[in-house]
Amino acid sequence: MLLPRLQRLTAGLFSALQRGANRSLSWMQARPALAAWFYPPADEYREFNGWYFGHFGEHEKMLADKPRMDFYHAAVTRHIQPGDRVIDLGTGTGILAAFAARRGAAKVYALDHSEIIGHARTLAAHNRIENVEFVAIHSTDFTVEEKVDVILHEQMGDWLFDEEMLVNISDLRDRVLRPGGLILPSRFELYCEPAKLRDARHVPFVWELNIHGFDYSVLERERPSEPEYYHARGGDLGAIEHFLGEPEPLLTVDLHTVQEAQLPHEITFRRTVTNPGRLDGFVVYFRARVDDDLALSTSPLDPGRAVHWGFRVLRTDREDFALGEEITLTLKIGRWSRPNTWRWSHRRTAATADAAPGEAVSSYPGQV
Ligand SMILES: C[S@@+](CC[C@H](N)C(=O)[O-])C[C@H]1O[C@@H](n2cnc3c(N)ncnc32)[C@H](O)[C@@H]1O
Repeated sequence: MLLPRLQRLTAGLFSALQRGANRSLSWMQARPALAAWFYPPADEYREFNGWYFGHFGEHEKMLADKPRMDFYHAAVTRHIQPGDRVIDLGTGTGILAAFAARRGAAKVYALDHSEIIGHARTLAAHNRIENVEFVAIHSTDFTVEEKVDVILHEQMGDWLFDEEMLVNISDLRDRVLRPGGLILPSRFELYCEPAKLRDARHVPFVWELNIHGFDYSVLERERPSEPEYYHARGGDLGAIEHFLGEPEPLLTVDLHTVQEAQLPHEITFRRTVTNPGRLDGFVVYFRARVDDDLALSTSPLDPGRAVHWGFRVLRTDREDFALGEEITLTLKIGRWSRPNTWRWSHRRTAATADAAPGEAVSSYPGQV
């Protein structure tokens, strides 16, 4: 009798604590401007990353992505010179370190903080790769006496910065890259384009539904506050029917010079509607450029896209746009590497110069 009662009591207490913690999390996520107070630069992500990349599964997807592997092979062949000293940041199975060693690098430091590095050692020995020193370490703890010529890396997430590329690369760059040294790849463009999904792929908000006369609109007042609810993920070419305007980078960075603290926390941009239709959301994807003719793209409309990356859709309520109208998007960013701190809202503007700006539609998630 006493034991079950005690169990119910502790379970009740535990679930109340959990509810309190979830409420605090929602409160904090609704305030991107306060993100720096809640998210230490990279630490809480570090543990997850080490676990996530510790198994074959994620590496298989990356290695099977032919556009990705061809991009890196070409980038190394073109830009690593025989005799270079190279760091491969996040070597995984050691593939990029192997490309660099075969290109004639004098020395490659292949760093990884996850358990996959044991397999990288085995693979290098099996493939007779020389001049590679595998170091099981987080890059921020790595030091070397003689600075290196090249930092080679693949630290991009679906949202470009969500694998802490900015923090990790700028730390190594400032400590162990020689002046004038190369970061490969270094030039990135981030996009956020208004798009119409194919009808068969579009998942409306629940309050937008009316199915054979069964109306869901009453649920609009129950709009969830969790940021994740407003982030859809797509991965294949068929999902997006078209962008409503002509894509332009929202942000361009060069890792040789970028400082995370200098990135803007608010960006407003306009798209003139050249392909009219329904706005279902804003699609986030990126391009990495090595040369004018060598780029890696995750655009959902690029037939040569690197397939293992998903693209993200910042969801919006359904709205139709006519040719020549303008969509003005405001993005507020707590931290670029934390998509949960992103907030967006847009307004419709008529194409004529003297037209008054339209009302801002809903902000996602919650108030901007
Ligand atoms: C996206 S995978 C790329 C693996 C490999 N370079 C490739 O191209 O297939 C990123 C790898 O970096 C490692 N990693 C991420 N951040 C790191 C850090 N700061 N220091 C060391 N390893 C890191 C992860 O464990 C993972 O194996």
